[in-house]
Formats: sequence, C-alpha cells, structure tokens
Amino acid sequence: MVDDSAFTKANRDNWNASSKEYQASHHAELEEDVLWGPSMPPERELRILGESVLGKHVLEIAWGGGQSAVHLAMMGARVTAIDFSKAQLEHARAFARSKKTSVRFLDADAQDLSMLDDGNFDIAFSAYALGFVEDIGRTFREVARVLRPGGLFAFSWTSPLFAITEDRGLLVKRSYFDRSPIVFEEKDGTEIDFHRTYGDWHRALTDAGFVVTDILEPEPLPRENTYADVFPLSKIRMIPGTTIWRARKPAPQDASPGGHGSR
Ligand SMILES: C[S@@+](CC[C@H](N)C(=O)[O-])C[C@H]1O[C@@H](n2cnc3c(N)ncnc32)[C@H](O)[C@@H]1O
Repeated sequence: MVDDSAFTKANRDNWNASSKEYQASHHAELEEDVLWGPSMPPERELRILGESVLGKHVLEIAWGGGQSAVHLAMMGARVTAIDFSKAQLEHARAFARSKKTSVRFLDADAQDLSMLDDGNFDIAFSAYALGFVEDIGRTFREVARVLRPGGLFAFSWTSPLFAITEDRGLLVKRSYFDRSPIVFEEKDGTEIDFHRTYGDWHRALTDAGFVVTDILEPEPLPRENTYADVFPLSKIRMIPGTTIWRARKPAPQDASPGGHGSR
C-alpha cells in the first residue's frame, strides 16, 4: 500500500466530488469505444490496442465511468480495471450491469497494483488518468510487472505542449521545464496535474523496462467535443491536445541474436 500524499488525496477527493457531474456531461461521448482524448478518432480506427482484444486479458488503469472497460469486455476481452474513486465505481458498476457485462473492478491506486499477480495481462491501458499520478516511475514499474513478456501498454494524457498554454489560447503561460504540479481550483475541489516533458515520459517508460514503440498525436476529428471548455476544437487543430504512448514489455526472444521484437 502507498500512503496517500496530499496531492493524491486532493485528486481522489476531487474525483469523488465531481464524478456525478462529470458523467452527466461526458458519459455518452465515452460509451461504445475507448476514447483516447477529446475529439480523438475512436479506437476502432486507431487500433492502438491491436487488431482484436478477443480472449485477451486486459487491465484498465483508471476506469473512470467504466465505459472503455465495458466496451472491451463486450468485444470479448477479459477485463480487470482499477480506479481509486468510489463515486466513479458506483457509476462503472451500474453501467456494466446495464450492459449485462462482467468486468472485475478493483478499488486501487495506480501506484500500487500489489493485488495483481506478475505477468498476467496481455494488454494494459489508461485513457486520460496518468497525469494525475504523482509517482509515475513506480506506476510504470507496477504495470510492467503485471504484464506478460511481450505485453502491450498504451496510455494517453494531455500533450506536454498543450499543458503549458493559456486557457483556450495558444500563448505559453508557463515554462515547459517547470515540473511543479499544476493546480486547478475546481467547483468541488482541487485537481492536481503532474506536468512531464516528452523526455520525462519516455525516460520513465524505459526506466521501467518498456520499449516505446510509438508516440501518437492524431489530428482531431472535425467535430466539437464535450470537453470543449478546456479542449476547444479551434485550439487542438493548431497544437495537439492529446498524446498517446504505445510501449511493449520486451519478451525474452527480443534480446536473442536475430530477435526482431514486435510492435
Ligand atoms: C478522466 S478519468 C479517465 C477515465 C476515462 N477514460 C475518462 O476519460 O473519463 C480519470 C480517472 O482517473 C482516476 N484516477 C486519478 N488518479 C488515480 C490514481 N492515482 N489511481 C487510480 N485512479 C486514479 C480518477 O478516479 C478518474 O476516474
């Protein structure tokens, strides 16, 4: 178990307080696919998680309202999902029930997956959550531990470029190199984001043993999204709102002479 830091506690409290309103605003947009970010093309086009999840053992880190986890379970994956918000859990459980779908939801902090066995998952993914996580090195090591050799890891978060610009505008408002937490005072609480440069994310992945296979910044679809108060189309057409990382836990054959690894 990790003890909650003040930042982790603030984010957990904020998600518990804001879950109802968040789901009322965004649930419909998040349903029936994995949504990697505002106005992003859907997973059925991007295929970040591979051609098919049928029969795959999938871990979602931070299930939110459960929409991605339920969708993947309906596509034939065996899905385990973790999140630290009890309010989000209520929504996710009710949603899974409404779809008559089975997902193993576990109340856990992304920084501590000690309830999960080593080498058990084919795929681990997270859509828009890992920037809330303070100790990303520990989190990535935990993800690497629970993936099988050759397993796929993908996650999305706000682009490091987007994160340093002013609200709704394109002017740079803080230094790209400033790693101090970004604090948003919200209606129901405080949100803390951890700004990481491209190099920081890349190094944290490789330090945890991953091979980074892609960094995707898909152009947004030409339609507004329910997050437009923060990610208006006019802005994310100019600079990426979302970055998607794709990585692989090496398999033993990747290290052998002539081994090519796999993407
Ligand atoms: C924006 S939602 C992501 C889920 C979904 N993809 C979505 O876009 O709505 C962020 C989720 O991350 C969860 N979260 C944030 N920090 C976490 C942590 N340290 N451990 C587990 N879950 C965390 C929150 O409870 C919330 O459900």
